[in-house]
Amino acid sequence: MSANHHQRYAHIVGWGKYVPPNILTNEELSKRVDTSDAWIRERTGIRERRIATKETTASMALYAAQEALEVADVNPNEIDLIIVATSSPEYIFPATASIVQDQLGAQNAGAFDLSAACSGFVYGLTLAAGMIRAGTYNNVLVIGAETFSRLLNWKDRATCILFGDGAGAVLLQGSDEYGGILSTVLGSDGSGGELLEIPAGGSKNPTSLETVMANMHFVKMNGREVYRFATRVMVDAIKQALQKANLPLAELDLLIPHQANTRIIDYAAKALQLPPSKVFVNLEKYGNTSAASIPIALVEAIEDKRVNPGDHLVFVGFGAGLSWGACALEWTEPTIKRITTPQRAAQSKLRYGWANVKSMGHRVLRRVDAGVSRTLDRIEGHSNDNGNGK
Ligand SMILES: CC(C)(COP(=O)(O)OP(=O)(O)OC[C@H]1O[C@@H](n2cnc3c(N)ncnc32)[C@H](O)[C@@H]1OP(=O)(O)O)[C@@H](O)C(=O)NCCC(=O)NCCS
Repeated sequence: MSANHHQRYAHIVGWGKYVPPNILTNEELSKRVDTSDAWIRERTGIRERRIATKETTASMALYAAQEALEVADVNPNEIDLIIVATSSPEYIFPATASIVQDQLGAQNAGAFDLSAACSGFVYGLTLAAGMIRAGTYNNVLVIGAETFSRLLNWKDRATCILFGDGAGAVLLQGSDEYGGILSTVLGSDGSGGELLEIPAGGSKNPTSLETVMANMHFVKMNGREVYRFATRVMVDAIKQALQKANLPLAELDLLIPHQANTRIIDYAAKALQLPPSKVFVNLEKYGNTSAASIPIALVEAIEDKRVNPGDHLVFVGFGAGLSWGACALEWTEPTIKRITTPQRAAQSKLRYGWANVKSMGHRVLRRVDAGVSRTLDRIEGHSNDNGNGK
């Protein structure tokens, strides 16, 4: 370690969310499949969820990211890295993160997608914080974005009632001040992979008439086993994250868990003897938005004034993989949203408009370049032929 090495910390300095305005209530769902509002509420706590219409994973990620940058007052060209945690990406490749990078006009950023299902946001935070603490990067955008509605079998009542669409984003920034992400815990048990999966569409079971006919492109889940797994790992992960951060449980101010099911959250809260005031729950409005659920919940907890500077928070996620992760942090940023003046709003609009124009310019230029290069190669080839002929 060099003598002038100082400890770096990764703070959340910006946050944003996007949820589609289109609401699907339990009542409406019960007209499509054999279920009822009472059953869904009792077993899961969900009342309604948001379903993307025109939105896609990238467009929702972009909106959430723009809001996070607005709150942080950071220019897109200052971003070093963009991580999109998603299990419902736009494509197998290119990465959704690259699409977001282009549309943000984040010309100095690397970008990649992270596949860890509902644990993805905590995995992303862990990576981003590690890079910031190591001094590799200073501004990292971590986004959780999902459009599970397009991967659900709307005839399978055991799964289609659970999930919803949305996106949440945070900007992590390096600083010498103590605080921000204090500890992270990640875990995986791949032996439970088949308990929650989309069996086809990857390289093992590529898309074929058979896979489509067998509904293998939809989310398949063993609900009871996933439930047992979630309750088992959640409490341990929270305890480990607190311990690694040297925080006694009594100093935990707010737990922001992955929003899958109120029964799972209540189980953990009870085991840790946390009062409801210390646990944030908003899944009744959104269902399970997978990697997006924790950042969406964080933004709403801030809006509800349940996060204040000096508070100790824990995020905990769990899901397909099987995978889990928890992270303890000390909140440092004032949560009163900076007031967006009409001038700043106009500036942002102009900036993103310009990023779009530039992106289009690059695409056109690439095509022209390819055409011209081909023509030049052909001419060169001809003159070489002539040369050889003589
Ligand atoms: C899915 C879940 C709500 C089901 O609740 P459960 O209490 O375990 O219910 P079971 O699966 O045992 O099913 C009980 C009965 O309800 C029925 N049922 C299932 N879905 C139903 C629905 N939407 N409406 C009405 N009945 C339903 C089942 O068919 C079963 O009927 P049966 O007893 O006649 O066979 C629950 O297992 C769960 O939340 N698991 C975790 C899922 C999760 O969070 N996944 C994502 C993790 S990131």
